[in-house]
Amino acid sequence: MERETMTSTRYWPAADKEAGLQEAAAALAAGGVVAFPTETVYGLGADARNTAAVRRIFEAKGRPADNPLIVHVASEESLPALTERVNEIERRLIAAFWPGPLTLVLPVKPGAVSPLVTAGLDTVGIRMPDHDTALRLIAESGCPLAAPSANRSGRPSPTTAGHVLEDLEGRIDGVVDGGSTGVGLESTVVRVLGNTVHILRPGGVTPERLQAAAGPSVRVEGTASPAGGGAPAPATQDDDRPRSPGVKYTHYAPRGEMLLIAGDEPERLVEAVRLRSAEARRQGRRVGILSCSEHVSRYEGAADEVFDCGPRFSPEVAARRLYAILRECDRLGLATILAESFPEAGIGAALMNRMRKAAGGREITA
Ligand code: TXA
Ligand code: MG
Repeated sequence: MERETMTSTRYWPAADKEAGLQEAAAALAAGGVVAFPTETVYGLGADARNTAAVRRIFEAKGRPADNPLIVHVASEESLPALTERVNEIERRLIAAFWPGPLTLVLPVKPGAVSPLVTAGLDTVGIRMPDHDTALRLIAESGCPLAAPSANRSGRPSPTTAGHVLEDLEGRIDGVVDGGSTGVGLESTVVRVLGNTVHILRPGGVTPERLQAAAGPSVRVEGTASPAGGGAPAPATQDDDRPRSPGVKYTHYAPRGEMLLIAGDEPERLVEAVRLRSAEARRQGRRVGILSCSEHVSRYEGAADEVFDCGPRFSPEVAARRLYAILRECDRLGLATILAESFPEAGIGAALMNRMRKAAGGREITA
């Protein structure tokens, strides 16, 4: 049974930045759990070395204990205390992308962080967020901060302080408001083994940029996770690709049933979405359509709600909006969510990874 401990949750508005930062940092140093903005999504932080504090993260989120947490640092100088070694390729990636949305899975230094953080693995995921508030909190608290996304497990990650409170009010000590996050999807998680950079979770740093930074002699390998997203890779798959425990869980799921509709030919794509929508509405279901900006006007009157996800060929806009839109679908009680697929170039790869998870793998081609 999950323990239901209610706490009063402080809210530190962006306007009182300095005072809020000091109070939040003091709460973290004292073993509290505090949500804070990063450039990707809001994180739920606690001192990574303090097992009691880290346990409260798992309890507040309802997170499975076998899913390890990312440790956030404010400077590269924190690395030697956390990890045994950083190799040449890892150094190149750090130089290119820190601070930024790249998490490196590195050999953990025994005893450096609570065993709950690593979920018993001999590695630890580390990143330096590109966000002034996050960096200040880490520095002022003097703690490496273990921080998963600040949502209840299974809900879309929060991109505003309001989303955090929606999920976690009464379960955490506070939230620092830093406005809407910029990237909108989580960091890219990588593990470097030999001459290969394995992408364990696609995210804010694109495979193209990883390849450019790693250099031509290094291989960058995509995720082993199937297009179906939520489902774990088959256990029989006998290879030694490293895996991220978190990717086996269904994440980011809205309550309504979501279907992805792919298609390079706009007329056919729009027609297929309209048809499905009409069908669902005949069955009395409330329908939402996630459309690229270019097609929004084509869906007028075709659904109960039409969401503009941004330009078809600028997936960074859809990346920034996706989680807020999925939460809005829930708020509006939409039973059917029809989403146009986006091209997978650049951050489009991470965007489609999250959309597939949200859709539980339901996908058709127009
Ligand atoms: O952008 C982000 O990464 C956000 C912000 C708050 O920093 N954090 C985030 O954390 O998305 P979370 O817990 O929601 O996702 C962490 C992912 C999971 O898929 C987890 O399995 C993986 O990172 N991970 C963490 N430590 C790992 C390790 N030692 N080995 C393999 N995967 C690891
Ligand atoms: Mg998460």
